[in-house]
Amino acid sequence: MKKYNVAIVGATGAVGEELFRILEEVDFPINNLIPLASSRSAGVDIEYKNKHYKVLELTENIFEEKDIEIAFFSAGGSISAHYAKFAAEAGAVVIDNTSHFRMEENVPLVVPECNPDDITSWKNTGIIANPNCSTIQMVQVLKPLDDAFGIKRVDVSTYQAVSGAGKAGMEELVSQMQDFFAFKLAECEPKVFQHQIALNVIPHIDVFMENDYTKEEMKMVNETQKILGRNIEVSATCVRVPVIRSHSESITIHFENDISVEKAVQALKDAQHVTVIDDPAKNEYPMPSTASDTDETYVGRIRKDINRDNVLHLWCVADQLRVGAATNSVRIAQKWIEMEG
Ligand code: A2P
Repeated sequence: MKKYNVAIVGATGAVGEELFRILEEVDFPINNLIPLASSRSAGVDIEYKNKHYKVLELTENIFEEKDIEIAFFSAGGSISAHYAKFAAEAGAVVIDNTSHFRMEENVPLVVPECNPDDITSWKNTGIIANPNCSTIQMVQVLKPLDDAFGIKRVDVSTYQAVSGAGKAGMEELVSQMQDFFAFKLAECEPKVFQHQIALNVIPHIDVFMENDYTKEEMKMVNETQKILGRNIEVSATCVRVPVIRSHSESITIHFENDISVEKAVQALKDAQHVTVIDDPAKNEYPMPSTASDTDETYVGRIRKDINRDNVLHLWCVADQLRVGAATNSVRIAQKWIEMEG
C-alpha cells in the first residue's frame, strides 16, 4: 500500500494533538510525518508511534521542500487563508479544518458518512473543507433520517464544549474553576470567552451578524444545506457551556410526511458511526461524558412531538475534538486515498 508524506499544520493545538492520536490509531499510511506550527513551537518534540519528531515552523515553501502529499490544516482561518494555496500548489491535498474555504462553491465540504462523492471535486482547488464541529455531528444524524422520511425543517440548540475554542478555551474553564474553589471567581477576567464560562452558560459563539444570528449559527445553517445538497430550512441557537470536550445538541426535525419513531430509530441504528443510547426507563441517554474520547456520534431521547406526527425530537452528542474535527479530517483523508490516492 502506498504511504504518504503528511503535514499537520497546527500540530501543537488541541485538534492537532488529536490528529496524531487518530492517525496512529487507524495506522494511517504515513511515509514522512511533518508537524508544523508557529515559530514559538519550532523544535518542540512530538511522539508518534514511539518515534520523535520536531515541530517545524510553518513557511510558504515547506510543503514543496518536504514533498507533502496530504496536509491537515488546523491552525485558524487566517493561517489557512494564507498557506493552504502553497500546500495545494506543491501538489498536496489540503484537508482544512477551519471555516475559511467551507462555503466556496468549488471547494467540497465533506462528511464522509453523508456526501463522500463530493471529494472528487478536490481537484478544483486542491482543498477539501472539514465542516464546523456542530454541523458534522448534526448531519450524521440528519442524513439517514432525510433519506428515510425527507426533512423539511430543523431547529437546533447546541450545548458546546470549551474545546471548540482550542486549548486556550479549555485552560480558561479550568483556571476559572480553580478560582471558584479559591473563592476568587468574581475577580476572574474572561479572555477567550465574552463572559465567565465556569458555572455559567453563554448564548454567544463567534461574532454576531447583521441578522442577529451568530456566525456559528449561520455556519450550521449554510453548511448543512451544502452537505445535504438541499435547501432544508435550518435555525440554530449556539450556546457555550462549561463542558471540556463534547458538544451536545437538542434537535427538532420537521418531516415532509408523518413518521414512525421505530423506523427513525432503526435508520439511526443502521447509520455508520452513529450509536443510539435511548432507554429512559434506565436513565440511559448520551452525555458529554459518554462521547468524550470516542469516534461515535450518540443519539438518544428520540421521541415524537406531542402535537405533530411529522415532527421528531432528539438529543445528539459527539466529541468535538474527534468527531467534530480530527476524526472527520482523517476519515476524509482515508476516503480520498480510496477514491483518488
Ligand atoms: P503554536 O502552538 O506554535 O501557537 P488551538 O486551536 O489549540 O489554539 O491551536 C492552534 C494551533 O495553531 C497551534 O498548533 C498553533 O501553534 C498554531 N498556530 C497559531 N498561529 C500560527 C502561525 N502563525 N503559524 C503556524 N501555526 C500557528
